[in-house]
Amino acid sequence: MITTTIQQLREFKTPFYHYDLELLDKTLRVAVQEANRHGFYLHYALKANANPRLLAVIREHGIGADCVSGNEITAAIESGFPADGIVYAGVGKSDEEIQLALQQEIGGFNCESFPELEVISQLAAASGKTARVSLRVNPGVDACTHHYITTGIEENKFGFPLDDVREATQRCLSLPNIEWTGLHFHVGSQITGDEVFRELCNRVNEIQRDLAATGLVPARVNFGGGLGVDYDDPDARPVADFAGYFRVFAEHFKRLPGQQVHFEPGRSIVAQCGSLVARVLYVKEGKNKKFVILDAGMNDLIRPALYQAHHRVENLSAAGTGALEPYDVVGPVCESADCFGEALLLPPTRRGDLVAIRSCGAYGEVMASRYNLRPLAPARFF
Ligand code: LLP
Repeated sequence: MITTTIQQLREFKTPFYHYDLELLDKTLRVAVQEANRHGFYLHYALKANANPRLLAVIREHGIGADCVSGNEITAAIESGFPADGIVYAGVGKSDEEIQLALQQEIGGFNCESFPELEVISQLAAASGKTARVSLRVNPGVDACTHHYITTGIEENKFGFPLDDVREATQRCLSLPNIEWTGLHFHVGSQITGDEVFRELCNRVNEIQRDLAATGLVPARVNFGGGLGVDYDDPDARPVADFAGYFRVFAEHFKRLPGQQVHFEPGRSIVAQCGSLVARVLYVKEGKNKKFVILDAGMNDLIRPALYQAHHRVENLSAAGTGALEPYDVVGPVCESADCFGEALLLPPTRRGDLVAIRSCGAYGEVMASRYNLRPLAPARFF
């Protein structure tokens, strides 16, 4: 719920990202408490939102960071995340990025291919460091979410195929300047329900059984991110179901003695604390419909255009003022895909009304672009 008063919101030039830092803090308290119940380790996935004010709040909760670029590693360190709590994934790590990670002595690489393994070994040897490496495995588990955010099936570019796990592990053990730390998985994002995570646990149990047959025990297992949030009704569920999520892993993953279990939540930490606040520029009568044209566009929030994502849209100025009517809510960008939703039910809407597009904290600001040479919208903290 946006509790900032409309008078306060009206003072700001739109569009802007509205962040509720109290909700972020509360979400983190729940996430950490529920993870601690099982002794699980958390690494916040910076890709979801790397705004420094948010990172400062997140760091205060003592969790690690999950990075996918050299710049994310630098941002995490500058925000005070301890280097040894940083994990670094990605199929295309450049030499410079690997060198940076080695210099910073990060907690570990999540390595995605044989050639990458060789390069990490060479660069580690050249700099006199030992790289801690977990192998990202593509477990062949379908997250059943939008195909652009499904990462754990064979056709995806991520991770080692299942058949290569034994050989990749042996390679880790034989290469100089590499310390094999375990296995890493991430099957997709915005996963709701338990089944996918249960299937992932079962698959990882099988992999561990197979490795154990050759005497190999991963010291760490990292299950990545993926926990979904409620985009339809963010006020009913402002905090994701961390308790249920971690319980699935506690019950279904056969943790070996002394083994560390890690997670990389992104969306579930930051999605609900952010809204994109925009003004209505025009209400346009189409042939059979009405368009609400906002001053925020797909360059500020690309999720609806890119993933057909649904975000709740609220008219903050006209709440409760009359019978709801259907409107197509669109942005000003010269693309038909610049649409936040069709036939959305809103109270009678006028030019100048303030509108909130909810659940934008994850993959909103961080994916913004300057398309059409529009300026980047600022962030405001409440
Ligand atoms: N770990 C790895 C290796 C990942 O690739 C991701 C997300 C995460 C953790 C965090 O996952 P989360 O907890 O946020 O689901 N832009 C898309 C989502 C892309 C997710 C990419 N990887 C969207 O707006 O839906």
